[in-house]
Amino acid sequence: MCGIVGYTGYEQAAPLLIDGLSKLEYRGYDSAGLAIEEKEKLEVVRAKGRLRVLEEMTDNGRALHGFCGIGHTRWATHGVPSVGNAHPHCNAKKTIAVVHNGIIENYQSLKEYLEKNGYHFESETDTEVIAHLLDRYYSGDPLEAITKVMARVTGSYALGILFQDHPGKVFAVRKDSPMIVGSAEQGNFIASDIPAILKYTKNVYFVNNMEIVCMDADTIHFYNVDKEEIEKEMTTISWNAEAAEKDGYEHFMLKEIYEQPKAVQDTISPRIKEGEIVMEELGMSEEEIRQIRRIYMIGCGSAYHVCMSARYVMEALTRIPVEVDLASEFRYRDPILEEDSLVIVISQSGETADTIAALKEAKSRGARVLGIVNVVGSSIAREADNVLYTWAGPEISVATTKAYSTQLAACYLISVYFAKIRQTIKEEKYYDLVEELKNLPEKIQQILGDKERIQWFANKFASSKDIFFIGRGLDYGISLEGSLKLKEISYIHSEAYAAGELKHGTISLIEKGILVIGIATQPDLYDKMISNMVEVKSRGAYLMGLTCYGNYSMEDTANFTVYVPKTEKYFANSLAVIPLQLFAYYVAIARGLDVDKPRNLAKSVTVE
Ligand code: F6R
Repeated sequence: MCGIVGYTGYEQAAPLLIDGLSKLEYRGYDSAGLAIEEKEKLEVVRAKGRLRVLEEMTDNGRALHGFCGIGHTRWATHGVPSVGNAHPHCNAKKTIAVVHNGIIENYQSLKEYLEKNGYHFESETDTEVIAHLLDRYYSGDPLEAITKVMARVTGSYALGILFQDHPGKVFAVRKDSPMIVGSAEQGNFIASDIPAILKYTKNVYFVNNMEIVCMDADTIHFYNVDKEEIEKEMTTISWNAEAAEKDGYEHFMLKEIYEQPKAVQDTISPRIKEGEIVMEELGMSEEEIRQIRRIYMIGCGSAYHVCMSARYVMEALTRIPVEVDLASEFRYRDPILEEDSLVIVISQSGETADTIAALKEAKSRGARVLGIVNVVGSSIAREADNVLYTWAGPEISVATTKAYSTQLAACYLISVYFAKIRQTIKEEKYYDLVEELKNLPEKIQQILGDKERIQWFANKFASSKDIFFIGRGLDYGISLEGSLKLKEISYIHSEAYAAGELKHGTISLIEKGILVIGIATQPDLYDKMISNMVEVKSRGAYLMGLTCYGNYSMEDTANFTVYVPKTEKYFANSLAVIPLQLFAYYVAIARGLDVDKPRNLAKSVTVE
């Protein structure tokens, strides 16, 4: 989704803005632009395509000399990717410049209103209404104009704004789209996400919904919609700029795949003290945990797949019924939330629009909401009743890997912890499970050491047209994730099926030579999986089997077998996902694709 960076300070603004925007490239974009204060005028430069084009047009920003500006990477929603639709957008006199992330839902009616009042539109975007509305309401007081605009627009927005007659000042405001403020020695920043400014400062303020920022080189002020100044607490970010760099890896995705042992370790180990799971951050007493009658797990994309897998673990261990929902469906399905329900929302970014809406929906119906979130201080982290952070560190690659793994680990911790309190597992089993949780990082590491075989196999199937993933139970959950990973970065059509469901239609798609990846880590379902694999093999499929060491009979059926270390059956997804991530990565590499920035995708989906 769109990325915003703004700066005002003692250094040339444009090079800093371009550098910041480059750190937001992972969010996905198709055009970029800058507005810089140049000799008391606003100079706007916009380009279609990669940031490289903007860099070339401005000599890496050096051609623009001002010390105050705003920059933007646009991910098209209203209007095609083009120079004309790229941000910043301005009023007719070019005295106000605006960058926007989000969607103005009532832009059509606002546009009509503005056109009736003599305003002329140059772009197809929803954002341009903001520039003209600001112009209409502006009579020398930026705060007055901004609050009036806030009262008129509906939808989501994070805005960076320059007023020509307020030199050296950057204004910003947000509603349901992310925005942070960074305070650095060389000046002050606004940005959509922390990596954009991490090189310059670790001191940030998280801007809340409907808060307005006004900053110059030395000061930062925050206001509410009534234009009253408010106090905000500064947060110091614990990770450094290197954590958001490639560190010698060819792609962020590969780096992040390799960071999984550490990320899982960092998520699990602070919650195990002297052999016991300790989870005060859930904010729930033992009595409250015993009273839970139903759990709802909600997320989008891979986070939804975590929910799909976690359901099997949670239900098996805690005996609490678990319902799983796509956030985009939950929010509109008029859900029935019983008393004593716990709603768990899962999100890496903490800014996914549908997940935030689902969270609000659940809260408005009286449910307690627990967020499993990676980005500290993000909207979901702030709006959930309690938050369990996954300590994956910054995830830059669009396709999630380490955040997914840490979300799974967080769900295991909750499941085992609840099971102990509700006494649905024996004490001995509890300690075995806790012990095995501690072993997971090392076992993940072991799989990473054996990547060459998967790389070889991925090369062999890189020109496939369709690839299927099948599994039962937990292995169905991981099939969904394996298939999504493959299709999103390799653009190969792929589907995941519960293996028992194949016969009900999909098996008609199986033809000679088609690759089917059968996942069979669950001991109770192993034989049934083998039967399903034989079914597709006899229809011509080429079979890759993914199972645990010891299940060597897989080789009688599969043409190619990948083994992962043995673990508690509940935790097998954490190991099985690693070869699937590597497979997707190497298929995409063999096809010569931009693995970190797949087409049409955005890292943080801040619109519906
Ligand atoms: C897939 C992927 C997406 C995200 C989804 C939710 O690799 O990354 O499917 O999982 O967009 O994003 P978050 O977790 O930020 O809410």
